[in-house]
Amino acid sequence: MPEPADHEPYAGERLVTASADDVERAAEAALRPKKLEEFVGQRTVRDQLSLVLQAALAREASPDHVLLSGPPGLGKTTLAMIIAAELGTSLRVTSGPAIQHAGDLAAVLSSLEEGEVLFIDEIHRLARPAEELLYVAMEDFRVDVVVGKGAGASAIPLALPPFTVVGATTRSGLLPAPLRDRFGFTGHLDFYDPEELERVIVRSAGLLGVQIHHAAAHEIAGRSRGTPRIANRLLRRVRDWAQVRGDGVLDLRAARAALEVYEVDPIGLDRLDRAVLDALCRRFGGGPVGLSTLAMTVGEEPDTVETVAEPYLVREGLVARTPRGRVATPAAWEHLGLEPPQGAWAAGLPSSGTLFDAAGGTG
Ligand SMILES: Nc1ncnc2c1ncn2[C@@H]1O[C@H](COP(=O)(O)OP(=O)(O)OP(=O)(O)O)[C@@H](O)[C@H]1O
Ligand SMILES: [Mg+2]
Repeated sequence: MPEPADHEPYAGERLVTASADDVERAAEAALRPKKLEEFVGQRTVRDQLSLVLQAALAREASPDHVLLSGPPGLGKTTLAMIIAAELGTSLRVTSGPAIQHAGDLAAVLSSLEEGEVLFIDEIHRLARPAEELLYVAMEDFRVDVVVGKGAGASAIPLALPPFTVVGATTRSGLLPAPLRDRFGFTGHLDFYDPEELERVIVRSAGLLGVQIHHAAAHEIAGRSRGTPRIANRLLRRVRDWAQVRGDGVLDLRAARAALEVYEVDPIGLDRLDRAVLDALCRRFGGGPVGLSTLAMTVGEEPDTVETVAEPYLVREGLVARTPRGRVATPAAWEHLGLEPPQGAWAAGLPSSGTLFDAAGGTG
């Protein structure tokens, strides 16, 4: 039975989180592919984007506005930089939260030079008035500059040179339809498969100037949750281990030992993920159990369990959310090396049985 947790709250300290802080973003800059052909995986998006860019170059015109959507750490910012580089133009960077007022956006837009790329990160977080200004700028290449105040204020239309907006969002569902419609091309990034991550890791090791064995790259890839950012982060930790406790070469032993030190298990679960699974199976017989009870058992806030641990557990098919609570799937029992009790999985499922079928039959 798990002890009440005696550790600090979890958020922000995880090795397997897909988000990055400023220090990490600086470390990442060195590992970013600079050309489309160096960008690993995402074949569909890459092919489509390549056509959009080549056609624009051939016409000597700015390409359509581009929207990039997908979970954190999959390469949206990297692609935005690549787009500007491939077009041979400069990239201007801003973000939804950085733009407080429509005036801030008007200032950015009116300073754009012909052919530049304006990258708006977290575009779903733009304030409403800024969003409306952006519609007009994207469609008519015009911005209305307001001069004066109150009753005497008037809007002077200012023509903008052609430019391309590249928007990035982790939540494309939150984008209002009129804004989404103004992007001529939308690329959705998906989680990478292990072979692709392996290539990311080998490439990054080369840039870091360290020697890596194929088996080590394979091992790290399998624990990286489909996310290049996590792959690069785990790679750096394995490099540390190899330099301090090994001979500097990243071999399988170094990879396994380092990731054990950092408590990242063979499928990329960390301590919190495993604590949740463990509580669900050992303490609650596989569920169903309510989120708050589960959270209390592992000593975390329900919000942390729900937003930090659960998404990946659900994605990996280890945990199912049902109307009656959280349920461990047979894969969860197996991952913990436990025998599922009879009927444990069936007990928590909705009577429709859809989740049951998805988990592999009714036997
Ligand atoms: N296809 C790829 N090939 C090689 N490296 C990649 C690829 N995609 C991402 N990376 C690496 O992963 C890291 C994170 O990528 P990036 O910053 O572009 O993610 P993001 O989608 O913008 O994340 P966020 O939503 O948090 O802003 C970078 O260091 C980048 O070099
Ligand atoms: Mg980004």
